[in-house]
Amino acid sequence: MKSKNLKKKVAFEVLKFIPNEIFIGVGTGSTVTYLINYLKKIKNKIKGAVSSSYKTTMSLKKNGIKVVQLNSLDRLPLYIDSADEINNNMEMIKGGGAALTREKILASAADKFICIIDETKQVKTLGKFPLPIEVLPMSYRYVMRELKKIGGEVKKRSNIITDNNNYILDISKLCIVNPVDIENTINNIPGVISVGIFSRRKPDILLVSTKKNVKKVFIN
Ligand code: 5RP
Repeated sequence: MKSKNLKKKVAFEVLKFIPNEIFIGVGTGSTVTYLINYLKKIKNKIKGAVSSSYKTTMSLKKNGIKVVQLNSLDRLPLYIDSADEINNNMEMIKGGGAALTREKILASAADKFICIIDETKQVKTLGKFPLPIEVLPMSYRYVMRELKKIGGEVKKRSNIITDNNNYILDISKLCIVNPVDIENTINNIPGVISVGIFSRRKPDILLVSTKKNVKKVFIN
């Protein structure tokens, strides 16, 4: 089965996990784009959405789903998003779509985080997918020098300005055996806005689309 169909399948399956009458946080990416198409069908059952990116906001609005700011809510009951890689310990790399900072905020703010992936995203060790890092433009060359000390190859992503007006650096060829340490180390470099390792805020539920079915893993 093509990855596109696996993504559609898991995006449909997650609808069963959305209670009526709540605001939901919505991630960014192609899997989430399929989800938004399905959300259109249940838009009268949910109160609205908090968006993780400009792209997602446009897509939600186009589909008639009300978009509200995180600051207008006292709590966010649910966040749904995909990932670029996930290991057996439920630690992830996110940010392939350059929306990692807002995604991390929404995942952290939400009572429950459901991650929806196709099986190709499951890895033993994180790092095959280049690790994205959002940085303040005035600091990017300094941050690149600091990142080189950690290892791997660091590149500035070309032609990308994030929704927060920052740059993205990607570290490739970095074998991330201790995601917690690497997340903390990179977070501590001045100029770094956020790093695409999600080791502190892991999903509560993981849905994995396989050729046979959608596997459900309940973590919390
Ligand atoms: C965007 C992300 C996405 O969740 C990740 O890139 C997966 O995207 P896709 O659903 O297109 O495979 O982190 O910043």
